[in-house]
Amino acid sequence: MSEGVVRVLDYMRGLIDGANPIVVMMTSMLALASLPVVMSWLMSSSSGKRMEDQGGEEKEQGEGTKEASHAGNLTKEELKGYTGKDESKPLLVAIRGKIYDVSPGAEFYGPGGPYNLFTGIDASRALAKMSFKPEDLAGGIDDLSQSEKDILYDWEQKFKMKYKCVGDVI
Ligand code: HEM
Repeated sequence: MSEGVVRVLDYMRGLIDGANPIVVMMTSMLALASLPVVMSWLMSSSSGKRMEDQGGEEKEQGEGTKEASHAGNLTKEELKGYTGKDESKPLLVAIRGKIYDVSPGAEFYGPGGPYNLFTGIDASRALAKMSFKPEDLAGGIDDLSQSEKDILYDWEQKFKMKYKCVGDVI
């Protein structure tokens, strides 16, 4: 081992041996305390990157769906054709008569997805009641309780934020 390396090792040993225990403890505590900050910074910078990536994807998808998407009003009967069975058509879900293109959420709403049963219909009643029952997938919303109306309102806000409104059920 070269003399230089030995000297460095000796110096480091001296640092550890000779260190004031209180200083060592304080330093360790500081290091531990800063860990969550560092972790959250690391997480946010990576999720920030993820969000940027998603933004890019969404933009591309958005542009893609804009072309493929239906735009305009549909009758209840016409709306039934937008469940993903016909791949050339977008996935549409209506809430309180407004039709949303949920194609960007194809993993939820596409064929085989957990919420495919909401596509092609006005899903207001089912969403308000958090129900998958056939009668709620078909029914109206006139008899909803106040809390069900509130839930429906929340869903509507979510859809407005997340998806493009492409027309009305007529
Ligand atoms: C065991 C019960 C349930 C579980 C574990 C579950 C789980 C989930 C999960 C993990 C998401 C994704 C959240 C996100 O990343 O944005 C989601 C979204 C959703 N859930 Fe559920 N869910 C359940 C019940 C229900 C029920 C009863 C309904 C309505 C009848 C419902 C309707 C929805 C809708 C509409 C979305 C939004 C998808 C979107 O962002 O467009 N879920 N659910």
